[in-house]
Amino acid sequence: MKNKIEISAPGKLMLFGEHAVVYGGPCIVTAVNQRMRVVVETTKDREIELKAPEVGLKHFKDSVSASLDRLPKGARFVFSAVKNFNGRFELLSGLRIRTNSDFSNEFGFGSSSSVTVCVAKALSAIFDVDLDNKELFDICYKSVLDVQGVGSGFDIAAAVWGGTLYFVGGGKKIAQVSKKELPLVVGYTGIKADTATLVKEVAFLKKSKPRIVSSIFRTIDFIVGDARRLIVNGNFKRLGELANINQGLLDSLGVNTTKLSNLIIAAKDAGAYGAKLSGAGGGDCMIAFVPERKRKFVEKAIEKAGGKVISVKNGAEGVRIEK
Ligand code: PMV
Repeated sequence: MKNKIEISAPGKLMLFGEHAVVYGGPCIVTAVNQRMRVVVETTKDREIELKAPEVGLKHFKDSVSASLDRLPKGARFVFSAVKNFNGRFELLSGLRIRTNSDFSNEFGFGSSSSVTVCVAKALSAIFDVDLDNKELFDICYKSVLDVQGVGSGFDIAAAVWGGTLYFVGGGKKIAQVSKKELPLVVGYTGIKADTATLVKEVAFLKKSKPRIVSSIFRTIDFIVGDARRLIVNGNFKRLGELANINQGLLDSLGVNTTKLSNLIIAAKDAGAYGAKLSGAGGGDCMIAFVPERKRKFVEKAIEKAGGKVISVKNGAEGVRIEK
């Protein structure tokens, strides 16, 4: 048993298949090289001490048995990961946990899922519990569902495996598509979106128009299947065309915004192969697939349209022990 460890896990960007993946379809997600870093130490008492400045927690302390909805929002994922680990393998001490993120939790890069994965991985390393990636995924996915009730788990998978993944809702299938960097530009709208609200809005639309929304989801599933093959073949021009179609379908689900549209159109006009929103919609980020010779033009156009270009590499490494 070790008494201190540092773990890091990547953030993520959804490439294709958002929303449909919540209903059991596939999606493609890539891990980004902006990482969440978590240091976990054992302590003598039986409490959990948490220092997470990026979510406003300077020094929070409570027992592992504290009920999740009584905790401050920023502490819930950490406590949930500890609880679920503790449910399967007994914790033998208290814990001091410090988190530190390379990225702002505004971007929608998945800080909650990365922190959950870091904590569970840290506990497995500290208490010498051998977990393979799927077991780690299962503990973390349950932790996220315990906190927010909804979610496909794609963000957890990206934090665990890294690279670019083909992921089927709930983790029914998780396969590496590529570890190479894809030619992407990422633009942030400046608006923080609330994923759970958007998922509920789409659920409402599906309930009121079940056949139409199901057929939109089915088309998105076809797009994801084709996108997977195009990524493997490196055909980014055709991948861009699929991004444009996927964007049209997301718009029809009601999750697009004027700001996202402005950045997407600006990117396409400046020479991107194609562009779409990434994630739940309502704000957060858009992505554009670009020919390298057009990258600078696309970046400039996104900034001119009021977006912020975020410089990240994709296909990043999954969770790892730092020291
Ligand atoms: O907003 P993000 O980046 O967390 O992405 C949400 C993607 C959804 O498909 C809408 C939800 C999910 O859990 O898959």
